[in-house]
Amino acid sequence: MKRGQFSSRLAFILAASGSAVGLGNIWGFPSKAAENGGGAFLLMYLFLAFLLAYPALMAELTLGRHGRSNMVSTLDSITSGLVQKRLGQLTGIMGVITATMILCFYSIIAGWMMAHTLASIMQTLKMYKIAEWLVTFSLWRNICFSTAFISLTLLVISAGVEKGIEIWSKRLMPCMLLLLLGLIVYVLLQPGAEEGLKIFLVPDFTQLADPQLILSALGQAFFSLSLGVGTMLIYGSYIRSDENLPVAGALVTVSDTGVAVLAGMLIIPALFAAQQLGVDIYTETGRLISGPDLIFHALPALFEGMGEAEALVAIAFFTLMSIAALTSSISMFEVPVSWAIETQKMSRLKASIAVGVFTILISGIISYKFTSIFEIVVVATTEWAQPILSLMLCLFCGWLMHRNHLLDELKQGVPDLESGLFWRIWPTYVKIFCPLLIVIILVQSFLPFS
Ligand code: PHE
Repeated sequence: MKRGQFSSRLAFILAASGSAVGLGNIWGFPSKAAENGGGAFLLMYLFLAFLLAYPALMAELTLGRHGRSNMVSTLDSITSGLVQKRLGQLTGIMGVITATMILCFYSIIAGWMMAHTLASIMQTLKMYKIAEWLVTFSLWRNICFSTAFISLTLLVISAGVEKGIEIWSKRLMPCMLLLLLGLIVYVLLQPGAEEGLKIFLVPDFTQLADPQLILSALGQAFFSLSLGVGTMLIYGSYIRSDENLPVAGALVTVSDTGVAVLAGMLIIPALFAAQQLGVDIYTETGRLISGPDLIFHALPALFEGMGEAEALVAIAFFTLMSIAALTSSISMFEVPVSWAIETQKMSRLKASIAVGVFTILISGIISYKFTSIFEIVVVATTEWAQPILSLMLCLFCGWLMHRNHLLDELKQGVPDLESGLFWRIWPTYVKIFCPLLIVIILVQSFLPFS
């Protein structure tokens, strides 16, 4: 069977940035920044994104393009000997499971965003009862909307790489960026916004050594660049051989961190603008509010205070969130689907339906036992599985992939690679520095004084 391929560099950049830019950037990043001292978190995040996440992203993209298949088969093909092969397969399978579990909880949050978009529309149509149901937390609302969201993702993925992933990334990413920029301009013109901007951009250096801040920024950097679970690996496997991988990877990293910073410039100033309207933006412990309280209470309160523009701004905001979520979920969905197509010999349509039904079921269970399971799934997948799997991928790329193969792979798109700075630093960097740093950060979060 012929494998899909992105038609151009732009198509890859948009698809991979679409995967990277998601709720993690627009919700997760500003929320975590608000919780962890604004500018200090931003600084740590930027540091880790370029120093740790970018090299790890390069490891995934290179492995993917070299293997030209899903995570399990790729790790199997680059290893030799029984132990190495088993380790490769196990890591691959853990990646597929983690991507699927992330999709399950992600679809619940994305469903809330779709429900809020619809609620704002209902509000303008004066259908207040329906709008009320849509914004009220309930089992059925959660199940209906996560199912709708997964079905939408399924439709895109079943159309394949060029006709599904590529076309929709090209359509949705510019819309997302326009909405984001428009909202930033609007919010920054509101009274009070300036103070929020200051808190977000000016770091309090005393907070930089806080182990919780570092772990949180690490998790955020890996989650935001969609690392460890094979999404970047599979997108890498769809890049043309003559593409310059280090440059393509750098562009994805820059656009992902760029959107996170822009989102911070939207959300935190919006919070302070809401304060001017009488909204309480601090928790009992004196920290800025974050998470669902921030997105579903403080911001809607701000929109309400905007008078005529209210409905439009609310619709724009929640549409922005829904689009960002969709381009990310597409990439998560592709991980188990490509595995099923390539190892279980299923057709794309069958594989998409099977993965869709499975994720709808699991996300239904998470919705049903929301208070006891949701948080555990989020922490286990994003704070633990993602960094550990990323660590494994760096080890596979650095220690088990032959250096000559690595060089040949990258040289196809960069003939003079050996004389450049990238080749002088990166191979040793993914081999030693990245794994070491990930281990240190994970271990220090275990220590009693952290
Ligand atoms: N990077 C996405 C975000 O920021 C989330 C994601 C994680 C996507 C893992 C794919 C794989 O929201």
